Amino acid sequence: MSNDKAKQAAGYKAAELVEDGMKVGLGTGSTAYFFIEKLIERCKSGLKIEAIATSKKSSDQAKAGGIKLIPCDQLEYLDIDVDGADEINLQKQMIKGGGGALFREKIIACSAREMIVIVSEDKIVEKLGEHALPIEITSYGYPSIIEKLRRLDVVGEIRKDKEKFYVTDNGNLILDANMKNYSGDFRELDTKIIKIPGVIETGLFWNLAGRVVIGYNDGRAEIKGAL
Ligand code: A5P
Repeated sequence: MSNDKAKQAAGYKAAELVEDGMKVGLGTGSTAYFFIEKLIERCKSGLKIEAIATSKKSSDQAKAGGIKLIPCDQLEYLDIDVDGADEINLQKQMIKGGGGALFREKIIACSAREMIVIVSEDKIVEKLGEHALPIEITSYGYPSIIEKLRRLDVVGEIRKDKEKFYVTDNGNLILDANMKNYSGDFRELDTKIIKIPGVIETGLFWNLAGRVVIGYNDGRAEIKGAL
């Protein structure tokens, strides 16, 4: 991918923020991949941490690299969580879940004292919605859930993996809602979506981002408190 250099720069830079003794949330996606890669390298050089991953994929990567993992039934709090985003606006509100891990990503982000967001510069937007909003829903009775979402004008496609429905690590489906023409208040809409029985979680991450590490195509990265 053309912006791999920017993603790598952001991921590697964020790994510098991890300190000895920390409990760390490991994000999911191509940017988080680079963060975990650098963290493994730091652990091999003596950094002592414990971590929990937001997906099976990230967990497998961390485990293979020798990072000590916290079992999910022992998750209480984390010092930091480092994760990517599909879009982040200037108020640091985000759409996440392009990689399908939104449910665990939100649990882990909400358990951390700080969520560090790692993005290539193209992820920063003025208005959210160009990227689809992923909504995790149960497979049980899913057409009825889609119908209730439609009544809120939330329509989209069930995510597919080749010919079959994509299934999350939690055994659920994802509806990728097209929000391109949405001009209302995302947060209000989110409150209505989450009340629908069968909706597990949405990819709207509100007031969760702490520092943002931005990677650039020339290989630079910077850490910003505000955008
Ligand atoms: C995973 O479910 C997502 O929330 C990712 O964090 C997000 O899609 C960013 O992914 P990339 O780093 O691959 O762009």
